[in-house]
Amino acid sequence: MSTLASLEERALAELRACTEEAALRAWKARYLEGEVEQAVKKISTLPPAERPAYGKQANELKKKLKAEYESALAAEKERALARSLASAPLDVTLPGRPARRGRLHISTQTLRSIYAIFADMGFQIYRSPEVEEDETNFSLLNMPEHHPARDMWDTFHTTTPGLLLRTHTSPGQIHVMRELCPQPIRVILPGMCYRYEAITTRSEIMFHQVEGLAIGQHVTMADLKGTLTAFARRMFGDQRKVRIRSSYFPFTEPSAEVDIHCLLCKGAGCRVCKHSGWTVILGCGMIHPNVLRAVKLDPGEYQGFAFGFGVERPALLRLGVDDMRLFFENDLRFLNQFPSLSGAAA
Ligand code: PHE
Repeated sequence: MSTLASLEERALAELRACTEEAALRAWKARYLEGEVEQAVKKISTLPPAERPAYGKQANELKKKLKAEYESALAAEKERALARSLASAPLDVTLPGRPARRGRLHISTQTLRSIYAIFADMGFQIYRSPEVEEDETNFSLLNMPEHHPARDMWDTFHTTTPGLLLRTHTSPGQIHVMRELCPQPIRVILPGMCYRYEAITTRSEIMFHQVEGLAIGQHVTMADLKGTLTAFARRMFGDQRKVRIRSSYFPFTEPSAEVDIHCLLCKGAGCRVCKHSGWTVILGCGMIHPNVLRAVKLDPGEYQGFAFGFGVERPALLRLGVDDMRLFFENDLRFLNQFPSLSGAAA
């Protein structure tokens, strides 16, 4: 009995001296799991008469020390938290670090305003591949092998014969007609094109184009003219003068180009428009009968129009940017200058 009393005294004194969690755990190993456990086990070695009294006291001691240990541990955890808060204060009322907002690339913004204009006229978006076959980029567009018109497009060829990076979005015409004809079609085909050219302030080896295609049984040149005039006015401003002049493309007949009054001088004549007052914005025409035949449409029954234009050049003129190369150099000092671009030019 007296051993139990002195064990209690010693254990409690030591417990009170513990000032950190590690010491408390060591205390637990030494007393609760050690000496106290031994003391309880000792019951069986005592003469039967002493057992009940001793057993009762030993179990009470065990219970008491366990409770003391638990409250000492909880108190120490509280103190540890208070110490850490005092040494590294945290002000939860401070505003957080602002997240850096991204923004859309100027080409994406321009593309989206183009989509919106054509969507209003009932055109859907059709995606077609950037890696094409010679056949779809040229042959089926009425440019058989060795046709001199192929020289209009400087081409990146891959090491696989007949496989190339598309030089324009026009091969998309073949894909969409193959998929949907003889149903009527009204689509735009946006995407990246590639040309093997010297990079200058006015031309890049990669750029976006948007192709347009309408196919049906009563499609006329007047529809083409109306569509493109409406587009040019919404894109470049209501007051902008638009003209359509005859041109040549192998896959359209008749072919035309659309000019608008120069974005800089508004028709007065300046360095950018080479003093003509006009800037060419796109090529277009009625689908050539050979192209219709290539996708098994009867040109006597079906007609259509197509147009194609570059996205970066007009954006450049509109924003007064003097170097085309800036668009794809990924320099944030340039890109950050265009937080948002409205649908129509001022
Ligand atoms: N694909 C032509 C080009 O890149 C543009 C065009 C498209 C012309 C559709 C006529 C019809 O120059």
